[in-house]
Amino acid sequence: MITLDISKALGKVTKEQVDACASQAKNCNRALENGTGKGSDFLGWLHLPSSITKEEIADIQKTAEKLRTQCEVVVVIGIGGSYVGAKAVIDALSGSFDFLEDTKPVIVYAGHNISEDYLHELLRYLKGKSFGLIHISKSGTTTEPALAFRILKKQLEDTAGKQKAQERIVAITDQSRGALRTLANEEGYKTYVIPDNVGGRFSVLTPVGLLPIAVAGIDLQLFMEGAEAMEKASGSDIPFDQNSAEIYAVVRNELYKSGKKIEILANFHPKLHYVSEWWKQLYGESEGKENKGIFPASVDFTTDLHSMGQWIQEGERSIFETVISVANPRCCVEIPCDERDLDGLNFLAGKRVDYVNKMAELGTQLAHVDGGVPNIRISLPELNAYYLGQLLYFFERACGISGYLLGVNPFDQPGVEAYKKNMFALLKKPGYESLLL
Ligand code: PA5
Repeated sequence: MITLDISKALGKVTKEQVDACASQAKNCNRALENGTGKGSDFLGWLHLPSSITKEEIADIQKTAEKLRTQCEVVVVIGIGGSYVGAKAVIDALSGSFDFLEDTKPVIVYAGHNISEDYLHELLRYLKGKSFGLIHISKSGTTTEPALAFRILKKQLEDTAGKQKAQERIVAITDQSRGALRTLANEEGYKTYVIPDNVGGRFSVLTPVGLLPIAVAGIDLQLFMEGAEAMEKASGSDIPFDQNSAEIYAVVRNELYKSGKKIEILANFHPKLHYVSEWWKQLYGESEGKENKGIFPASVDFTTDLHSMGQWIQEGERSIFETVISVANPRCCVEIPCDERDLDGLNFLAGKRVDYVNKMAELGTQLAHVDGGVPNIRISLPELNAYYLGQLLYFFERACGISGYLLGVNPFDQPGVEAYKKNMFALLKKPGYESLLL
């Protein structure tokens, strides 16, 4: 199992303080399980790992295989919870330079911004290539992905013909409502359903995440088994002192109460960059409301030690750090001996690069804790589908508990509508004219 170490987070917060919150955390976890807390209409994610069937996984794999054989490139179109979970898993488990190799299909993303340059460059890249589209939108009306889909669908139909385009488009959306559902039904696209009771940021373990992940050739079965192991390990029947999701939720809330308003998720592996992006959406959108909530930030070390390192070490003491630590790398690179030793690195000859990374990790922890930054550590034995499944479910479960501890509804996002209303008014979208600024 992945493990949680809070020993370096204590100081501002004591072990007694943490233990004193055990029953409150248990109640919050039970409220999730019993559906008695705020936002209980959106708890469909809770038992996804244990309830997905072999047939469902096989069907997703079959569609993925079809796209893999038919397409050189698959474009995943979606924004927020409708793309970032898939990207987090795919990036974490793919080779850093796969995109330069002959690995097919290449997976690219669209609909997560409205940059004209981005779309133009994507259309140019796709020219002359066989490509497919996975369009993910629960509402089916989100502007960014709808715009990208309209443009990409046209290019696909123009180049491959309507029939081939229809075979290479998959829509993941609401069961019966929304523009995308209507279009998919009319055009006969293969579709998957985003359950009504699963919000975007909690949807990575539905077809929203699973189809792109399978297209990338990642073992879905193993991924879901990992998530299931964590579903069991974070249940309210597991005692508090063994329940890492409950402990993490308590510690971050106690740190918040003690004035630590910012949580920085740090990693020492660039592949984890998008896991942090996913985590930021999960916690930011779930807790940032009613003028409350920890601000979730992230850094990639050691890269950012050469930029943000100064702020973290000596800036305002309003932060704490949560480090995702990976025990064993997948590959091995040994440091060679150099005859001239001009860089003075021969003292490391024969050692692994990961050994240096680990010492950087330890040295950073000691320095930051010394500098007044409490440190929480989440350790993965290695970066594979099983432990990543565990990690994502761990964060989801802890997020639900943490939101309840904070006293907010972790499953709504009323604040994200504000920019949309203004944008639609400025664009003179029918029905929004009266809101003109
Ligand atoms: O978590 C959320 O609800 C959001 O991030 C949505 O996933 C995002 O806004 C996209 O919405 P939709 O899937 O309806 O296009």
